[in-house]
Parts: sequence; structure tokens; C-alpha cells
Amino acid sequence: MEKQEVIISENLGQSLSAAIGGVEHDRLFVLTDENTLRLCWPLVCEMPCMQGGQMITIGATDENKTLESLVHVWTVLQQGGATRHSLMICLGGGMVTDLGGFAASTFKRGIAYINVPTTLLSMVDASVGGKTGINFGGLKNEVGVFNCAQTVILDTTFLRTLDYQNLASGYAEMLKHGLISTVENWAELLRFDIAEADYAELGKLVGKSVAVKEHIVEEDPLEKGIRKALNLGHTVGHAFESLAMAEGRTVLHGYAVAWGLVCELYLSAKRMGFPREKLYQTIQYVKNHYGTFDFDCKKYDCLYELMTHDKKNTSGSVNFTLLGDVGDIHINQTATREEIFDMLDFYREN
Ligand code: GLY
Repeated sequence: MEKQEVIISENLGQSLSAAIGGVEHDRLFVLTDENTLRLCWPLVCEMPCMQGGQMITIGATDENKTLESLVHVWTVLQQGGATRHSLMICLGGGMVTDLGGFAASTFKRGIAYINVPTTLLSMVDASVGGKTGINFGGLKNEVGVFNCAQTVILDTTFLRTLDYQNLASGYAEMLKHGLISTVENWAELLRFDIAEADYAELGKLVGKSVAVKEHIVEEDPLEKGIRKALNLGHTVGHAFESLAMAEGRTVLHGYAVAWGLVCELYLSAKRMGFPREKLYQTIQYVKNHYGTFDFDCKKYDCLYELMTHDKKNTSGSVNFTLLGDVGDIHINQTATREEIFDMLDFYREN
């Protein structure tokens, strides 16, 4: 997988123009979802570099990350005369960049695409690193390919369109990047208050956060080893997300990750000696900004089952990434049913 160019943009018009101009192409397509069409497209539609672009719009939210939406994108590309030399801009959150990246990677065996993430979650995670795909058969990201965008343009102008919940959701992935990098990064993140977001400061933190991910992806693009560090908090987080979905509760991905981080740091403290005071400092931050996930012990079996079905696992065991300290990463760790139940007890009691 080729290394992608990640631009921290201070002038979206210039960055887009340079990125589009850097790819020789015959036709330009712009993929949005219904929300980004309304909220974000007006911020770019007048730019000279976007003129002549053919629009493709899909339904918003993860429920639309489907084969049907993918077929719609392929159909518009085909009917709009796209060739192997066409270029697609994916303007939106993780759903748009994942599905759009997959559509572009497969149409005529692959056309170039540029990601312009519009949510904090997609800026610091989904749009960077070449994971593309759709949900299928009731499972998230079940079908997809690794294929990087030509360029990813990170422009924090879009963050001003987000509400607190969506900012907090993305920030959870930044906390994760802090935990797997350095004490300085982690401590700086804990000092930032998402509720009173200083956007200039947030922009700087986004740059540092993405650099952590880029560095890891560069080392292990296909997730054979160290890229699994990016799964910290996600084994439990995905189980919380799935349980909430089954119960008809809406939980944003980053909230589930933040709660998952608390659980997995506890397991890290027990198994790897992760320092208790850093555990409690992180717990306090998560409690203050994300609240807690409510469940009782009758749900433990179900959560355990959900963890064993996670696609990160092999043959029924539950795979975790754990930390011995901030930045001291231990991938491919397993935990027993008893350890997992103890971790869930700890989560509910703290
Ligand atoms: N979202 C984790 C990764 O890109 O590997």
C-alpha cells in the first residue's frame, strides 16, 4: 500500500486545489451524504477547483454503509462516464470515506480518491490509513480493502459544524492515540476541555494525533502486527456498541471506545502493571466527558459472546491490546472469561 499524503490545511481552497491538481484526471466526482451535502458542501462548492464535479449523494449515518449505497455510487460513476482516470473526492465522516474509498478502489479496478473528512472521528481515524469497506450481513466493515486515498485533507473549519457529542466521539480516538504514544501527548489531551473547545488548540492536537496513526500505519499498513495497537479500547468498545444497538440505544462509536479504554486500561493495570494513577486520571476524564455505559451483570455473558465474535479474534479467544504504561504496547494479549467478568465488575463499580 502506498504512503498517503496527509495535509493539515489552513486554507481549504488552496489545499483542495493542490490535491486535485496533483492527480491527472478526466472527470471529477464528489461523494457526500445527505448531512454533509447540507452542512459542508456549501463551504466548498464555490471553489474553482470543484467546478464541473459530478455529485453523488448517499444517505447519512452508518445504517447506509451498505451494498445498496455502494451500488448507487458505482452506478452514478458508470452513468457519469467515469473512467479509470477519474477522481473522486469523499467529503464526509467515516461512513463516506470508508464507503467512498471502497467504491473508488473497486470501480474499474481502482480510481484515485481524495478524502476530505468533516468529522473529528474521521479526521483522526477513518480517513487515514487506507481501511475502506461497508457493513454486510449484520457485521460492521465486513467487506472492504486496504487502499489509501491519494491525499487526506484535514481542515478544522469543519469541526465548527459539529455538536459536543460528535466532537467528544472523535476525541476518544485521540485519547487512544495519546495512550499508545507518549506521556506528554496523553497528559496534554487530558488537559484539553472538549466542552469549551478552543479550535486553534484542537487543530494542533489533531495534527499530533494523526501523526501517531500515520507512523503506525507506515510501519504495518496491513495490520499484521503493531497496527493492532490502534485497537486499544475497541474489543470492549465494539461489544458495548453492539449491545447498545441490540437494545435500541444510540451510542456514538467514540463514546463506546472511551468506555472500552477504561475497561482495557484496568485489564492493563492488572496484567501488565499499567500505573494505577494514570488509570484513575484517565477514568476521571472519561467520566467527566462521556458519562458511563449502563448495564447490569445479567449482560456479562452477552458482552463476552460479543467480544469472542469480534473479527480481531482467532478461534474463540478474546484478543486485546494492552499497555504496560503509556506508549508501552503489548498486542495479541488474551484474557479469560473470569478476567473479563472482573473487568466488567470494575467498570460498573468505578
Ligand atoms: N481504526 C483503526 C485502524 O485504522 O487500524
